[in-house]
Amino acid sequence: MSNAEFSLPTHVQRINPNQISATDLQAACELLRKGEVVAFPTETVYGLGANALDGAAVEKIYQAKGRPASNPLIVHVDQPSAARELVSEWSETANRLAAAFWPGPLTLVLPKKTAIPNIVTAGGPTVAIRVPQHPVALALLREVGLPLAAPSANRSNAVSPTTAEHVLLGLNGRIPLILDGGPCAGGLESTVLQLGVNPPTILRPGLISRQQIEQVLGHQVVGPSDPTNAELVLPSPGMMRRHYAPRAKLQLVDGDGQSEALQLAYEGVRVAWLAWEDATIPDPLPAGLTILRMPWTVERYAAQLYATLHEIDQTEITRIIAPVPPEEESWQAIRDRLSRAASD
Ligand code: TXA
Ligand code: MG
Repeated sequence: MSNAEFSLPTHVQRINPNQISATDLQAACELLRKGEVVAFPTETVYGLGANALDGAAVEKIYQAKGRPASNPLIVHVDQPSAARELVSEWSETANRLAAAFWPGPLTLVLPKKTAIPNIVTAGGPTVAIRVPQHPVALALLREVGLPLAAPSANRSNAVSPTTAEHVLLGLNGRIPLILDGGPCAGGLESTVLQLGVNPPTILRPGLISRQQIEQVLGHQVVGPSDPTNAELVLPSPGMMRRHYAPRAKLQLVDGDGQSEALQLAYEGVRVAWLAWEDATIPDPLPAGLTILRMPWTVERYAAQLYATLHEIDQTEITRIIAPVPPEEESWQAIRDRLSRAASD
């Protein structure tokens, strides 16, 4: 796809999530109804949406992102009943999970109905669906009255956007409209759970933890790092190792990372150290070392991680040193994204 085909003016429209009117959503709805794409905030990251029932519209998502056609999209709907209409089988398990977590950052993979074009599911027999929690996303879905296929609104393989500015950095000129509802509170993508297999299997760890899912179901599910998972599925083609990658090379280290970061800085490398918020500052501080503080709580770390990586992407920094987060299950999604960002 040549650049000439992407010279759209990209309009950024500010929307107050606490006070949304139908007029606020008019331009977005018009674009979506005529088969165009629109970026909008969700509680996890910004999504790039198109009418999920219109194959030609969905094709534009792949083009704008430069996404391989083999990587299927998540369909967003405004309520569980709308999800049921898109799948050929809605189980009691789906029912319970939807009741417990929707609207929210859990994506369910279910057998699809034929109404969903193959391009949405990358030709596969299942469709990934969720009801997002962000007021702008929900209002848009209700107002437009269509299911919206929406991957994260970044160029393929780049870091997911948690602000409208991040979307603009990646997709300026490639999409007509970004709804700017401020920064995403969650900051990491949804948990993707495959149903219709026994037990249900987490394909991508995310903001809803394995324990939260197991608590609702009353039995164990297969986790993303369980040995059984690798043989069992791998139909989540988006789970390629290098994904969510910043431009600078990221290295995960045991310990707090200070000595590794200092070493690089003394070698003349421009390095960012993702230091824990209570880490002591080296004195003297070598030139070339940028310290970026990371919080000790999962929620705050998740909310901040992509913004921090985007910030680094805007500089000449070439290396990132990040301490490995705690072992606990609750940090799993963060460990997952960091190790993907770290892989070559
Ligand atoms: O939080 C999120 O999930 C965000 C917001 C915008 O909703 N969306 C998002 O979409 O992260 P994306 O396209 O970046 O990631 C979708 C993930 C990919 O790993 C993809 O392979 C997987 O979901 N997926 C989609 N459809 C699938 C299917 N039918 N079977 C298995 N995995 C699927
Ligand atoms: Mg993505």
